[in-house]
Amino acid sequence: MSVTRAMFDEVMVPNYNPANIIPVRGEGSRIWDQEGREYIDFAGGIAVSCLGHCHPAMVNALTEQANKLWHLSNVLTNEPALRLAKKLVDATFAERVYFANSGAEANEAALKLARRWALEEHGEDKQEIIAFHKGFHGRTFFTVTVGGQPAYSDGFGPKPGGVSHVEFNNLASLEAVMNDRTCAVMIEPLQGEGGVVPGDDDFLKGVRELCNRHNALLIFDEVQTGFGRTGSLYAYEQTSVVPDILTTAKALGGGFPIGAMLTTQAIAAHLKPGTHGSTYGGNPLGCAVAEAVMDVVNTPEVLHGVKEREQWFRDALTKINEKYDVFSEVRGRGLLLGAALNDKFKGKAREFLTAGAEEGVMILVAGMDVLRFTPSLVISDTDIQQGMARLEKAVARVVAANQ
Ligand SMILES: Cc1ncc(COP(=O)(O)O)c(C=O)c1O
Repeated sequence: MSVTRAMFDEVMVPNYNPANIIPVRGEGSRIWDQEGREYIDFAGGIAVSCLGHCHPAMVNALTEQANKLWHLSNVLTNEPALRLAKKLVDATFAERVYFANSGAEANEAALKLARRWALEEHGEDKQEIIAFHKGFHGRTFFTVTVGGQPAYSDGFGPKPGGVSHVEFNNLASLEAVMNDRTCAVMIEPLQGEGGVVPGDDDFLKGVRELCNRHNALLIFDEVQTGFGRTGSLYAYEQTSVVPDILTTAKALGGGFPIGAMLTTQAIAAHLKPGTHGSTYGGNPLGCAVAEAVMDVVNTPEVLHGVKEREQWFRDALTKINEKYDVFSEVRGRGLLLGAALNDKFKGKAREFLTAGAEEGVMILVAGMDVLRFTPSLVISDTDIQQGMARLEKAVARVVAANQ
């Protein structure tokens, strides 16, 4: 069967609008489309492919597990899930792990757990969940309602209640609405989809203190920032804040769908048998791959390498900007970087993305005003340099087109 992009419009639900090319192969930070055209990948499947494409450690773990055992359901536990959970517990503040299949599911579990904890520990009045404008937590109805972009949650009928939003990096706006009825605060330590905006350390510290004062749980959504992306296994390690619940997905599986919620023993105890679950969560294939990814990522070489690569990216973007004057700032942490477009190019992020793909480099946007970079954590210097040379050509074209 010959497969074309036109088929997408014939057989798929139109909730996505993918690019015209169809990639068929990937290796490291390069991908090739049906025509054999090569692209350098600075997008990493939206912060997922943390070891690039087809890393031998992932391929070996997947094929080895594929020849042993694929699936059991949670009627039985399995060795890869237990090994991965043990490694996550050993490496973080957490004492208990719940496995899901995606970031949204990990967040759904976190929100349900917070509500159940509050009900059992403090009674029915403690239900309010506070989150932040422009935050993003997934697309289930609960998580998308907690996310701070109403355009994503409007138009689906009555929303789950007890959810309010305040301004990110503005402690006073949180303090104004927080009280003893607050059950949890959900926050990305660095807003990804919302424009690559890091939470200030003082702000995050203040959020922690307010949660303590009002007996509310602090949930860090590290779906995008986690698993080495910012230069530590989790971003909270670089702040002075420890959350009560942390969610992780994306890079956790390096491209295999898996998510997890991490928490303490005392909080976890509120999800008693039967209260929550998933057929696939903790699937042996996903856990075997994630364990292999973790063995590579959670090492000083790779984590230190993220900081080194961050500098290479920043230097290259600064050089492009010196020549073309398109960015107002480059922000973010580690290999979750955003180049904010200056006033002249505001609203035109997609033009840069499209020109980039035409020049053979894949980038992302975060909203209409920010170019986002979430490459492999082990991308080579050569790939960065060549990718940036292609990006420079793309920038030159967009600048010329907007003269
Ligand atoms: C911070 C954050 N949370 C949750 C999600 C949702 O994850 P998933 O798409 O795996 O459900 C995303 C996805 O972009 C995210 O960036």
